[in-house]
Amino acid sequence: MENCKILQRGWGQPAFRLFAEEAVGETGKSKEEKGMLNLKIEDKNPNIKQELKEYMEGKRSVLNQILEGETDYKDSLGWFHTAEWADVEQTERIQKLADEIREEADVFVIVGVGGSNNAARSVIEAIQTDRKVEIVYAGHTLSPYALNQMLKSLEGKSVYIDCIAKNFETLEPGASFRILRKFLYERYGEQAGKRMIATGTRGSSLEKLCKKHGYTFLEFPQNVGGRFSAVTSVGLLPMAVAGIDMKSLVRGAADMEKQLHKGGSEENPAYEYACLRNMYYEKGYKLEMLAGFEPQLRWFYKWWVQLFGETEGKENKGLFPVAAEFCEELHAVGQYIQDGAPLMFETFLDVQEQNASLYAEQDRVEDGFDYLNGKDFWDMNKASFHATVKAHREKLPCLILEIEKLDAYHFGQLFYFFLFACYVSARILEVNPFDQPGVEAYKKWMFEALGK
Ligand code: PA5
Repeated sequence: MENCKILQRGWGQPAFRLFAEEAVGETGKSKEEKGMLNLKIEDKNPNIKQELKEYMEGKRSVLNQILEGETDYKDSLGWFHTAEWADVEQTERIQKLADEIREEADVFVIVGVGGSNNAARSVIEAIQTDRKVEIVYAGHTLSPYALNQMLKSLEGKSVYIDCIAKNFETLEPGASFRILRKFLYERYGEQAGKRMIATGTRGSSLEKLCKKHGYTFLEFPQNVGGRFSAVTSVGLLPMAVAGIDMKSLVRGAADMEKQLHKGGSEENPAYEYACLRNMYYEKGYKLEMLAGFEPQLRWFYKWWVQLFGETEGKENKGLFPVAAEFCEELHAVGQYIQDGAPLMFETFLDVQEQNASLYAEQDRVEDGFDYLNGKDFWDMNKASFHATVKAHREKLPCLILEIEKLDAYHFGQLFYFFLFACYVSARILEVNPFDQPGVEAYKKWMFEALGK
């Protein structure tokens, strides 16, 4: 697959925003109709709003520099203008390739680790309703048990794979790609090449390998790091193969971009969130716990943990990102949150629109749960959420991020919101948002052990 359009612009100029609108198509709806994210603060401290106001004023220069376009980081900001790697032409091409795969495949294996697979997985595991193509994951583990299970799950099915590896040097995806290639050649002979897609950077050894063996090559943007790649070919192809409306997701990201680039810090919930994180960090909190009552968000938490962990954990600084899936964790770490060391503040993801109903009807058994008669699980889940915030806010600061609903469009908003917030937050913390030198430490010893 060929990329890409060369976009002419001066760095930091707003040309992309217009381009984004034209490219992805404006919905023509108001902000309210489209349901932008809403951030609320539950903190016992009566002065928190004033403190936040002053903090936001104090860090305003960071936001200004970011909005003007930071030359220091321009080689890592390909995600900052959604349309740079997800304009009409590119999304059409990705969709076309996905449609071709969907015609033929029963199973699509995403081979990738960290930023290369987390975003797609977070959306697919949450909202894939059309099960035409089953999505399977590899490249994130070296466990032979898990990999054998993965291979077993492919038996008797029509298989396509996408090996996503920015520089094609990471061991885990490289090793999985090898066993999957063998599997495909044994199964399909010379036709196997047609079933392999690889997403890598231009000029990488992965591209050369694709050219040599006739695999489909998709461009991994050089100026986008793995964890920032949700709304590029990296995340979008697997989502489209899974039947997700990825164009709507791109629109959600572009709409969020528009809101966050407006300039006014008061209207910028991502800037507000980035300031709150740093304020709490400076007050001595060491952890941020992302929590929610919707198991659909399980893999999104993983994406978020990786984004903030790799971006901020540097120079002996940074909030440790953790996630908790409630109600389950209320019966585990809930005890620690309420009564343990005051290490953390909490950020809740609260989905507003009801997407399902289930009533707890009375039956013939006297079970002591009659107070639930006729109640909808949706309301029970919400009651549990509000009760948790009430209890936890007595001990620690709680932030609530309200999301209108869990669909592709709102995932797009969520991605852009957190990417932007993470960038701002790391800049306030004064660390480089786009490198990850610490990840190399274990690799050195592993490569030594494996004789690389
Ligand atoms: O966010 C990042 O940069 C990392 O998590 C990478 O995505 C991850 O290490 C995988 O890298 P690669 O795609 O080069 O195999």
